[in-house]
Amino acid sequence: MAVIADQCPDVRVTVVDVNEARIAQWRSATLPVFEPGLDEVVARARGRNLFFEAITPQVLAAADVIFVCVNTPTKTFGEGKGMAADLQYWEKSARTILQHARKGTIVVEKSTVPVRTAEAMSRILNARADDEDFPVLSNPEFLAEGTAVRDLLQPERVLIGSRPGPAGDAAAQALAAIYRRWLPEEKILFTSVWSAELSKLSANAMLAQRISSINALSELCERTGADVQEVSQVIGSDRRIGPLFLQAGVGFGGSCFRKDLLNIVYMCGQLGLHEVAAYWKQVVDINDHQVARFTRDILAHLFNTVVGKRMAIFGFAFKPETDDTRDSPAIAICRRLLEERAELAITDPRALDNAARDLAGLPGSIHFEPDPYAAARGAHAVVLVTDWPQFRALDYARIFADAQRPAFVFDGRNALDHRGLFELGFNVVPMGKPPLLHR
Ligand code: UGA
Repeated sequence: MAVIADQCPDVRVTVVDVNEARIAQWRSATLPVFEPGLDEVVARARGRNLFFEAITPQVLAAADVIFVCVNTPTKTFGEGKGMAADLQYWEKSARTILQHARKGTIVVEKSTVPVRTAEAMSRILNARADDEDFPVLSNPEFLAEGTAVRDLLQPERVLIGSRPGPAGDAAAQALAAIYRRWLPEEKILFTSVWSAELSKLSANAMLAQRISSINALSELCERTGADVQEVSQVIGSDRRIGPLFLQAGVGFGGSCFRKDLLNIVYMCGQLGLHEVAAYWKQVVDINDHQVARFTRDILAHLFNTVVGKRMAIFGFAFKPETDDTRDSPAIAICRRLLEERAELAITDPRALDNAARDLAGLPGSIHFEPDPYAAARGAHAVVLVTDWPQFRALDYARIFADAQRPAFVFDGRNALDHRGLFELGFNVVPMGKPPLLHR
């Protein structure tokens, strides 16, 4: 919304939330999320045509277009628990809109939702109408965290799904007019509402599938002495496959991939498509397997015990350039190491507050250290979980000097200079390639 406000100074954008503390943060000097470039965009538009307010009937009544961006987490209760999307916030939003918004207001589904959610929303919003009082559009978001502002300014595509007929067409064109302010026509794709909803889930499923494919191959590489980075480079040079999202690692995290995959799995199960459900479930299973085998390998290399050993965890965010730790592989890795009674010293440039929340209440010794050198001091091993570029630039001779012997680096993202580390004296265990061990 900040980028829309920035690009369209004559459009008034009001961001509302039921959480007033959140709104207060958006109005303050310190935004509630870290996202490169966002501070500048907000600073330019805030107070001009970008406003953050508590939700009131007046704001809803004044709107021509309402974007619904509420969260749709995985259900933690009842039917579909652990799999299906929890749509309670979406439905509550629809009922609030129905109560306060003007007839004709366009409702845009921005949250990632299962197929046919817009249909359900349209039925709630238009239950009393002969015609569509509130045209519902699907306009899924394809930005990735850490590159959100860039992805919004230069997206691969913007997708607008609408219902067939004049009301749907007019609504789709009204929304497209906003994006046309900074995007060429060919970037804007129009589909049916259901295709738009399913395209969003499918894009994430296919991206996650690529990661699980290369991760599955990484284990095979380790067993055969091949190098997964070489394999990935060769595979990716085929234009039909392409080079992106072929980086082996400890697995994907974030608020989207697992949730969206499980959503597809659940949907397929509901429709009786059991083979299809099993196919997509396997993408999630390989991801869990990757984390499990990474921690098993750490244990095996450290002589099958990490009791009381200090382990420096480099990175806790689910990817670099974000403070987001939702479903980060670091959570499962730290839990496993704590079960083995290791002492953890966790360092991350942005995510230590979230890390502390994620690990709160777990028994064991956990330190949160903004300084990576302090985290690694006296450690038996450095375990790199998130490939922040800062970690590449550290002075590993200094880290080695302060480390226990034998000293180990477990590089869960193949982010470091393995040969250089080995020559400094470290034992190096990369992902998907032979370890470099001093005998
Ligand atoms: C993902 C999609 O990339 C976006 O297109 C989509 O809009 C977004 O979900 C969403 O649905 O909101 P995001 O989760 O922010 O974006 O981050 P990604 O860059 O996709 O990374 C996800 C995870 O995959 C990270 O943990 C990353 O480390 C991992 N990854 C990525 C790999 O392990 N290997 C790779 O080659 C690429």
